[in-house]
Amino acid sequence: MKIIMLGAPGAGKGTQAKRIAAKYDIPHISTGDIFRANIKEGTELGKKAKTYMDQGLLVPDELVVDLVADRIQKDDCKNGFVLDGFPRTIPQAESLDAALEKLEQKMDYAIDVDVPDENIVSRMSGRRACAGCGATYHIQFNPTKTEGICDACGDKLILRDDDKPETVQKRLDVYHDQTQPLIQYYEKAGILESVDGTMAMDDVFEAIVKILGA
Ligand code: AP5
Ligand code: MG
Repeated sequence: MKIIMLGAPGAGKGTQAKRIAAKYDIPHISTGDIFRANIKEGTELGKKAKTYMDQGLLVPDELVVDLVADRIQKDDCKNGFVLDGFPRTIPQAESLDAALEKLEQKMDYAIDVDVPDENIVSRMSGRRACAGCGATYHIQFNPTKTEGICDACGDKLILRDDDKPETVQKRLDVYHDQTQPLIQYYEKAGILESVDGTMAMDDVFEAIVKILGA
């Protein structure tokens, strides 16, 4: 099963993608997580990506397209994968289609997690991420057992650099301008599904499972 998660920054793509990956036993491929791991390790890719990410801008297509094309050819992707944060532009979507075509494959679902802009800013300011394992929480909607400490690995929680309110607004603008057109792209391709992302996390997941089949 090959799935794309679409949706604004903070819509819950990562939250749901992790659950999908666990339930269907397929890898969760988040380009944002890949960039953040590279930033942490201080790689050249990380250094380049950070200058864009901190401003709420997209990393240039050429830095992300080959990376994903390579990743989806790895052995663990044989039974499918869930893409989170990619594609984010029409050229990225076209390059994904081309890479899959070479493998004689195509995407099965593009799931749009729909959340209006008004809800996004409060979600982002309350998000906390684990500095160690990358697990995501929310101070109100998905709190940890001990404040500031990851339930999964015990490391400390941090606020993402790009979750400052002014950067969130920029990311939303970029989303509407460059990423939202993908909804129409996948509608045309006949694989678009939409879920109401303002529901509670469990209800959003239930709606997705209904689409994918148990
Ligand atoms: P990326 O990491 O992909 O960030 P994003 O798309 O902006 O999305 P987020 O990760 O912020 O949100 P999410 O939808 O995953 O929400 P989450 O589940 O965490 O990208 C970061 C940057 O990297 C980009 O700005 C760009 O610069 C660069 N980049 C990445 N990919 C790229 C690409 N392909 N091309 C170019 N550049 C790229 O949920 C948010 C919060 O809400 C959490 O706290 C969560 O607990 C909470 N929450 C989730 N669901 C619910 C719910 N149903 N109810 C209440 N709270 C909820
Ligand atoms: Mg995410």
